[in-house]
Amino acid sequence: MTIPNPVYSTRICRYGTEALREAALLIRAGEPVAVPTETVYGLAADATDDSAVAAIYSAKGRPSFNPLIVHVADQEMAERLAVFSPVADRLAARFWPGALTMVLPVREGSGLSSLVTAGLPTVALRLPAHPAMRALIRESHRPLAAPSANRSGAISPTRAEHVLASLNGKVRLILDEGPTSEGLESTIVAPEEDRIRLLRPGPVTAAMLKDASGLPVVVGAEKARIEAPGQLESHYAPSKPVRLNALRAEKDEYLIGFGLMPCNLNLSPDADVQEAAANLFAALHVADASAASHIAVAPIPDEGIGVAINDRLRRAAA
Ligand code: TXA
Ligand code: MG
Repeated sequence: MTIPNPVYSTRICRYGTEALREAALLIRAGEPVAVPTETVYGLAADATDDSAVAAIYSAKGRPSFNPLIVHVADQEMAERLAVFSPVADRLAARFWPGALTMVLPVREGSGLSSLVTAGLPTVALRLPAHPAMRALIRESHRPLAAPSANRSGAISPTRAEHVLASLNGKVRLILDEGPTSEGLESTIVAPEEDRIRLLRPGPVTAAMLKDASGLPVVVGAEKARIEAPGQLESHYAPSKPVRLNALRAEKDEYLIGFGLMPCNLNLSPDADVQEAAANLFAALHVADASAASHIAVAPIPDEGIGVAINDRLRRAAA
């Protein structure tokens, strides 16, 4: 089956009452809308509508075996869609609203499109903190499936202009609420009875998860099947070769720095990993658009959110 590929004239609208109303109308009509969250901009559509979800896949050019994260506005909505264990309850109490996604068993009669789960018996749920995303869920009365609002495999968007550059003509409306605060996609976990499996590192670190749950945190999927295809080797990738752990720029390289050092663009002159996370994707976008043919990135400490930064950088370089 081929999905028709409409061409739109894409508009960026500042987030506010008017823009929100229009966005909710589009959602109710089964169309995707780009909307900010505290992590990255998402391409949101009604998670209960097969053709709306198919429109996300087609706008992104995303392989359809990749399941999507479903965003909810409150705990009640979350529990209509998935079954919460005591461990999941504890993590929700501590980290929601926020940058944590939990993979949980789908509740029978949830109404979720099977395209959103890619046919899995589980669903990835997140209750975001960003007012725009939460208002859009409320206003449209729908759980919203939302992957990052970029062409599949490309760098994730942390500003409305990034979305426009990647999806121009593929989406009608981009809600603009400035740069995102976290800058990296949410942490994804599968809570189990006696441990937490970390499927994608993100702003909520392994240490925070362990502290909140009292359980060990193990890294990665238990099965060979790709449980978080955000973990496909090449992902978050600029169009240029990327060299990691660079201390200085070689010929034709655009150097992204960290801490005090000569470079083209510094993620955090104060060597603050949180600030570096917020600036990472914007820096990769700038480097990708620069005249240099290659990109180099300084070493980033592998601690706190630095673990997630290094995860994204390895994929950018793969
Ligand atoms: O911060 C974020 O999480 C952003 C914003 C927009 O919320 N969203 C995002 O979504 O990164 P996306 O679709 O790019 O990433 C979805 C990830 C993929 O790695 C996917 O494989 C995983 O979630 N996932 C979704 N459903 C899953 C499931 N049932 N089991 C395991 N992994 C799942
Ligand atoms: Mg993505």
